[in-house]
Amino acid sequence: MNPERDTWREPQLPAFVSRLIWLEEVDSTNDHAKRLLSAGEMGHGGVVLADRQTRGRGRLARTWDSPGGVGLWMSMVLEPNRRTSEWFLYTFLAALTVAEAIEETTGLSVQLKWPNDVMLAGKKCCGILLETTTRLEAPFVILGIGINVNQVDFSSELRPVATSIRLALGRETSRASLFQRWAECFARDWYRVDASILAKWKAKSDMWGRTVRVLQSGTGLRGIAKGLAPDGALVVDVSGEEKKIYAGDVKVEMATD
Ligand code: BTN
Repeated sequence: MNPERDTWREPQLPAFVSRLIWLEEVDSTNDHAKRLLSAGEMGHGGVVLADRQTRGRGRLARTWDSPGGVGLWMSMVLEPNRRTSEWFLYTFLAALTVAEAIEETTGLSVQLKWPNDVMLAGKKCCGILLETTTRLEAPFVILGIGINVNQVDFSSELRPVATSIRLALGRETSRASLFQRWAECFARDWYRVDASILAKWKAKSDMWGRTVRVLQSGTGLRGIAKGLAPDGALVVDVSGEEKKIYAGDVKVEMATD
C-alpha cells in the first residue's frame, strides 16, 4: 500500500484540470492522452498520470526511462489559445511552471536549458515533449512532462546527465504535492501566455555567455549562447556569426571541458 496513492484521488486541483486519470502502467501517457482525446473521453485540461511507462518517449525519437513509483509521468490535453506559430510558447510555459513547482515544493534552485530541460546542479531532472494532434479537425496539443522525483540512482548511461529531486534534496518529495503545485501554476499562466514568457525563461537559464555544443542530426557546431530569438530559437554566436538553432541537443561546456 502506497500512502501517497490516496492523495492522487482527491487532490484540490484547479478547475482547469477537467479530468484526471491515474494509471498503474501505460505505454506512454502522451499516447494514452491522444487515444482518450480521439475517443472523445478527454478534452482540454484533461490529464493522464502514470506510475510507470513501458514506452515513455522523449524528444528526437529517444526513449524516456520511466520506472514505477519514483517519477511524475504525465500528459495534459490542451486546446491551443494561440496561433500555430506560437505553440512553441507552451513548451517554455511548461518548463517555467515545472521550475516554479519544484522550487516552491522543495526549496531547491533549478535552471532551464534550451530547448525544454529543467536542470538541477547541471543535470537534467525533467524533460518536456510537446506533440500536436487533431480531433474532428480541431487542433490539440499534448503536453508531456516527465519529472525525475525520487530516483536514487540511474543507469550508467544516464548517470552523467540525469538527476532526480531526491538526489539533489537528500529526501523524498511527494509526487502528488508536486503535481498539485504544477497544475496550479500552469492553470494560472495558461490564459496569459504570450511572448513575454521568453524573457522569463531566459532569466531562469544560466546558458548565456557560455560555450555550447549543439548536435543536430549528424552535424554539430560550437559557439557562445547569446539568447532566444522571438520564435524560440536558440541564438548561438559561431565565430562572430549568429546562428539560430531550432532543433538538436545542446551541451553547455563546463570550464573544465
Ligand atoms: C525529453 O526528451 O526531454 C522529453 C521527455 C518527455 C517525457 C515525458 S514522460 C510523460 C510523457 N509521456 C511520454 O511518453 N513522454 C513524456
